[in-house]
Amino acid sequence: MNTRIFHLSENDTAAPEITEAAKILTDGGLVAFPTETVYGLGADATDEGAAKKIYAAKGRPSDNPLIIHIADPADAEKYAYTSELYYKLAKAFMPGPLTVILKKKDTIPATVTGGLDTVAVRCPSHPIARAIIREADVAIAAPSANLSGSPSPTCAEHVIRDMNGRVDAIIDGGCSEIGLESTIVKAEGDRLTLLRPGAITADALRCVCEHVEISHAVTEMLKADERPLSPGMKYRHYAPSVPLVLLEGDEDCVVSFMRRAQNAERCAILCYHDESFELRCERLIDIGERNDLAEQAHRLFAALRDADELDCDVIYAHLPKKEGIGLALYNRLIRAAAHTVKHV
Ligand code: TXA
Ligand code: MG
Repeated sequence: MNTRIFHLSENDTAAPEITEAAKILTDGGLVAFPTETVYGLGADATDEGAAKKIYAAKGRPSDNPLIIHIADPADAEKYAYTSELYYKLAKAFMPGPLTVILKKKDTIPATVTGGLDTVAVRCPSHPIARAIIREADVAIAAPSANLSGSPSPTCAEHVIRDMNGRVDAIIDGGCSEIGLESTIVKAEGDRLTLLRPGAITADALRCVCEHVEISHAVTEMLKADERPLSPGMKYRHYAPSVPLVLLEGDEDCVVSFMRRAQNAERCAILCYHDESFELRCERLIDIGERNDLAEQAHRLFAALRDADELDCDVIYAHLPKKEGIGLALYNRLIRAAAHTVKHV
């Protein structure tokens, strides 16, 4: 398949390429587009055949459901049974990096939801994403636009590397601002269960909802026979081709360990900016200032892709603290490392 690449700037919402992308989608094709979290691989969410193409293009297991993207929070009515809590969340966080799981309506085929009776709904804030959805005038199912198992793409080059020849079009709209996928919550009555942490933190959710439970699968390994609340939790994610080891310990001990490791083995290191002056620059990837978690989130997936391309036997990174956006960093890294933590 010949993949067309459209270059747009973030506010080019009236460009003819938007109309063209929307037409590809309503004709049953696939378009990768930027969002504020990561790039998505879109298809008409009401078209079963189009949704099947997403699974094929990504190599994604068919029981792992897709998120549907809408232009306005109230559009959820067409596809799901909403609630008072949904509208509270919408008022506080939409458009933005929040996905809410609701009971689905029949307008969404079972292929999109992996056979579940619920559907994940998100209203992205990226102007290009919203313009395309509005123009297509239908919900757009979109997982992250990476090959299944590789890190989510945070810029068009990542999408092109994974998806060129597999999709009809890719819209290059620059780098994703946040860099980690949306926060996912399941809304049941007046309670929320956090299934995937993201830029909207548990504390932010607690400002809107009294009862927020964090699913244990966010930080812990699933038991062999356990059925997760979110099917995506059971798949190994973002796995680099060499082992990733997370380091836990006092700041001084971690940097000393990194220094010794650089002399003893062929390792890549994801370090904080201040540490980059204390370590040899060989196979060193700066993930941002120690206390700037938003910057670390922004850079993490690109750093994992870069580390994977270095000729090394092991990758070391800090074990993030589980506070604020740190919980999202922790969740992505602990899974990429298959829960390998070294105390130093
Ligand atoms: O930021 C994002 O959410 C990005 C952008 C493109 O919007 N999308 C994204 O989609 O990360 P994806 O498919 O890579 O991750 C969706 C996750 C999967 O882990 C899936 O299992 C879960 O959402 N999910 C989808 N529908 C669900 C449902 N009905 N119940 C439970 N989990 C669901
Ligand atoms: Mg994904």
